[in-house]
Amino acid sequence: MKVLIATDKPFAKVAVDGIRKEIEAAGYELALLEKYTEKQQLLDAVKDVNAIIIRSDKVDKEVIEAAPQLKIVVRAGAGYDNVDLEAATAHNICVMNTPGQNSNAVAELVFGMLVMGVRSFYDGKAGSELKGKKIGIHAYGNVGRNVARIAKGFGMDVLAYDAFCPADVIKSEGVCPTASANELYQHSDIISLHIPATAETKQSINYAMVNQMPKGGILVNTARKEVINEDELIKLMEERTDIKYLTDIMPDKHEEFLSKFPGRYFATPKKMGAQTAEANINAGIAAAEQIVRFFKNGDEKFRVNKK
Ligand code: 3PG
Repeated sequence: MKVLIATDKPFAKVAVDGIRKEIEAAGYELALLEKYTEKQQLLDAVKDVNAIIIRSDKVDKEVIEAAPQLKIVVRAGAGYDNVDLEAATAHNICVMNTPGQNSNAVAELVFGMLVMGVRSFYDGKAGSELKGKKIGIHAYGNVGRNVARIAKGFGMDVLAYDAFCPADVIKSEGVCPTASANELYQHSDIISLHIPATAETKQSINYAMVNQMPKGGILVNTARKEVINEDELIKLMEERTDIKYLTDIMPDKHEEFLSKFPGRYFATPKKMGAQTAEANINAGIAAAEQIVRFFKNGDEKFRVNKK
């Protein structure tokens, strides 16, 4: 059995070592493709593998068709919008993610960016504090829950809206649920985005949505760039000079945001939310264990595509 780690953005070495230990202990072979620059490198690397561990790496129909022995793809992380699930199902390939394994790392980065945002990007001028501010968590999953926990430590009021998580569950965790996303934006000084990129959510964070935020609103995005309607956010930020946008996923219109909104816009050069040794170890080793359990016991827990 051959397992490939294909990561354009590599795991920390300690995580790769841990994955190797798991895979080799099961009697399998591990191959490594890191920092590849051409898709062809991925197409070549998958041709004889039975399993692949990826991060945000794109596994589309072409990659799947180039891998005739492939049985399982594990996205070491949460979002699996980078995998063609239908093509995987059509080729009888199981796709999994490793939910929760990197969520603390992502949540910590939310606050890393927020402190910088409220302290005027450290330009020497007086900023403000997070204590007493209202943070609205848009989608209350694993990352959202960690954001809530840390926000309470900052002394913030925590609100959340999730289209799928019932209000009483949110309430039972000491967070104030809102009846709708609109209500969340109306009542939050800061919105932290944690919605996945799906057909329904793409471009959904638009002018009308963000314009509901009170004066001085900050939008922080550690989810996906696709959920933002970039043209409409630019239009809004031109009209409302009080709004800030902080993102861990560089927008397509990064240069325009950067030139138009100095002191109100920040983007990490490369998605950094899950880029900690701890998150790499947690997600990478979980992926390796899931692959071993899949081959040895037929365990399909965490499968995300249809059979
Ligand atoms: C995720 O969906 O798990 C995060 O966006 C992290 O993605 P990454 O592994 O590409 O850093």
